[in-house]
Amino acid sequence: MEKGEWLMTDKAEHTLPDYRDLPPDVAERMAQIKKRDYVLKIDHVTKEFVQKRSRVKALDDIEFGVHRRELVCVVGPSGCGKSTLIRILAGLEDPTSGHILMDGKSVHGPGADRGMVFQKYTLFPWLDVCQNVMFGIEMAGVSRLEAQRQALQWLQMIGLEQFAKAYPHQLSGGMQQRVAIARALAASPRVLLMDESFSALDAQTRTKMQNYLMEIWRKIDITIVFITHDLDEAIYLADRILVLKPNPGRVEEVIEVPLSRPRRAEQMTSDEFLATKAHLEELIRSFGVPDENAEDEDVKIDLPLLTLVTDKVE
Ligand SMILES: Nc1ncnc2c1ncn2[C@@H]1O[C@H](COP(=O)(O)OP(=O)(O)OP(=O)(O)O)[C@@H](O)[C@H]1O
Ligand SMILES: [Mg+2]
Repeated sequence: MEKGEWLMTDKAEHTLPDYRDLPPDVAERMAQIKKRDYVLKIDHVTKEFVQKRSRVKALDDIEFGVHRRELVCVVGPSGCGKSTLIRILAGLEDPTSGHILMDGKSVHGPGADRGMVFQKYTLFPWLDVCQNVMFGIEMAGVSRLEAQRQALQWLQMIGLEQFAKAYPHQLSGGMQQRVAIARALAASPRVLLMDESFSALDAQTRTKMQNYLMEIWRKIDITIVFITHDLDEAIYLADRILVLKPNPGRVEEVIEVPLSRPRRAEQMTSDEFLATKAHLEELIRSFGVPDENAEDEDVKIDLPLLTLVTDKVE
């Protein structure tokens, strides 16, 4: 589609604006963001997995920079290399070729400058909430007393100070992820890396967590790379969305989200939001890969194998 063209969608039954037309305040914000240095630079990263008989190119020549205090979401169908990319950023995996640069310097292996929050709840079950958050702070060589003081501040920030002495199994999934975010941030990283961190949560808790994350991000100097399958989540959170295509994983497009900040739930029904979502859906459909994680796929049930409901039991 050429820039400036209008898009007809069945859903909205009216013409949507071009997702590339940024409202003036968003264009101004994007221009400001782009003036900032890259905190994180993915410099021609390729990753090949070699197994006994096969070779998988998970990522092919990925080139992308994340500006300071930017919130970037990464989307793409299952298997396009999203987790591989974030694991390389975290230093949990080495690229086959290319580099990861933090503030212009090549990094190898994990480091305190990059905090990570996974999809699964990963708190230490034998430590209470406060001790979980203290963990990262103490690792940085801070005294126990000071670590405790800082941990309590974090718990206050995420609204869980009254759960300081509770153990992870006593918390809901959303609360556990809030503690996991606080634990990652307490170590003062420059970048927070999140791999589908909210996808195990129910829809209502997920929305709350998205708002928590943006609220925390607004208050502190942190740059976020957030991987998600959920296009609504990506549009709602991101300044820019990196779209990866599969086989091999490549950058297909970088989208500047045409929504003002602070984000509000009402924006999810705006024309700008719908136009961005329609474009993303079309892009991902064009890759032709059935998405194993898609929630709305038709499930075919083999009826003859089931006991059919009859008049008698109805
Ligand atoms: N350790 C590994 N060994 C071999 N192949 C791997 C390994 N890790 C990932 N792959 C392959 O690399 C490709 C990308 O996988 P990756 O997990 O990064 O995708 P993804 O986009 O995160 O998928 P999903 O959305 O399902 O989480 C896949 O083909 C996968 O099978
Ligand atoms: Mg993954």
